[in-house]
Amino acid sequence: MPIDQNSALEALRKVNDPELHRDLVSLGMVKDLVVSAGAVSLQVELTTPACPLKDTIGKDVEAALRAAGATSVKITWGAQVRAAAVAPGQVAPGVKNIILVGAGKGGVGKSTVAINLAVALSRLGAKVGILDADIYGPSVPILTGITEKPTSKDGKRISPLEAHGLQVMSIGFLVDPDQALIWRGPMATGALMQLLRDVDWGELDYLVLDLPPGTGDIPLTLAQNVKAAGVVLVSTPQDVALADVIRAKLMFDKVSIPVLGLVENMSAFVCPHCQHETAIFDKGGARLAAERMGIRFLGEVPIDLAIRQGGDQGVPICAGAPDSPQARAFFDVARAVAGAVSQQVMKAPRLPVIGQQPRA
Ligand SMILES: Nc1ncnc2c1ncn2[C@@H]1O[C@H](COP(=O)(O)OP(=O)(O)OP(=O)(O)O)[C@@H](O)[C@H]1O
Ligand SMILES: [Mg+2]
Ligand SMILES: [Zn+2]
Repeated sequence: MPIDQNSALEALRKVNDPELHRDLVSLGMVKDLVVSAGAVSLQVELTTPACPLKDTIGKDVEAALRAAGATSVKITWGAQVRAAAVAPGQVAPGVKNIILVGAGKGGVGKSTVAINLAVALSRLGAKVGILDADIYGPSVPILTGITEKPTSKDGKRISPLEAHGLQVMSIGFLVDPDQALIWRGPMATGALMQLLRDVDWGELDYLVLDLPPGTGDIPLTLAQNVKAAGVVLVSTPQDVALADVIRAKLMFDKVSIPVLGLVENMSAFVCPHCQHETAIFDKGGARLAAERMGIRFLGEVPIDLAIRQGGDQGVPICAGAPDSPQARAFFDVARAVAGAVSQQVMKAPRLPVIGQQPRA
């Protein structure tokens, strides 16, 4: 029997999104299906432009349609980031997903991962912002190279600054860092909530929050006030750092913030001269720890001079040298994070985001 609209749709009902474990039709990912004399064309609308499994989905769609009698298959790709459920009165209502980046330990590269994750998601086609939640030691001004002060269009809300395609905000733009250092806990968390509430974030697919080191007030405040899609944990492969990340995981579990997975930063050093790999802080420890904790391993980022220089110069490697192997490591992490966020969102009940059509 020649393929028609109905049998094509039936065939697509058997193709699962490998990450969301549901079929493309019931997920609302099939658009503009046209069948004419054996030729099938359709748009597949991914749940993130940074989809890690686009190629797999494409192959599965083509195979299913051909098995149902299609003589040719033409797929165009679209993306519509789904939103985590938002309660009424929620801060930053136009932000679909808030992604925290954190760990227990200081200096493991949380801020470096956060900025490159944000830039990578943006370059993959998403609308992205970054918020420096490290009130005491803000790094985002240096990491983005922004030196100007934010302004306000209406005298009420602060407009974020822009760099590398991102909407950017940091307490470091607003107060002298020495001043913030003497704030007590409640003042610091108050300032963070104000940055979420009083900054005009507009419509964003992802807002990345760079968390300060340590456990403590900030994650707890966020858990109580913000519906985060989840937290990306960062660790070096070293035992001490890993012990801290395990503690951090327990802390986020306790406040019911989903853990999206673990990134191994400062993984092996690859010599730029001879490509010899040296495991300075050891290697592979985070992958094992992730397995043991039952969380997703989101990828590894080498310890590398260009990554450090990019940070110091305000041009993250994903913006300055997006085709380099070091940037590619971050792009892989970004895809894995986007996949984990989509999965998290599909698990939780969905509510429409303001300014968006509710989805069938
Ligand atoms: N993969 C890497 N390769 C080389 N240098 C790195 C890498 N990741 C981070 N660094 C460098 O290590 C230092 C600490 O990184 P970063 O500020 O991102 O850590 P952090 O966890 O945010 O620190 P803090 O706990 O103080 O907030 C910085 O100088 C940064 O450039
Ligand atoms: Mg930091
Ligand atoms: Zn060498």
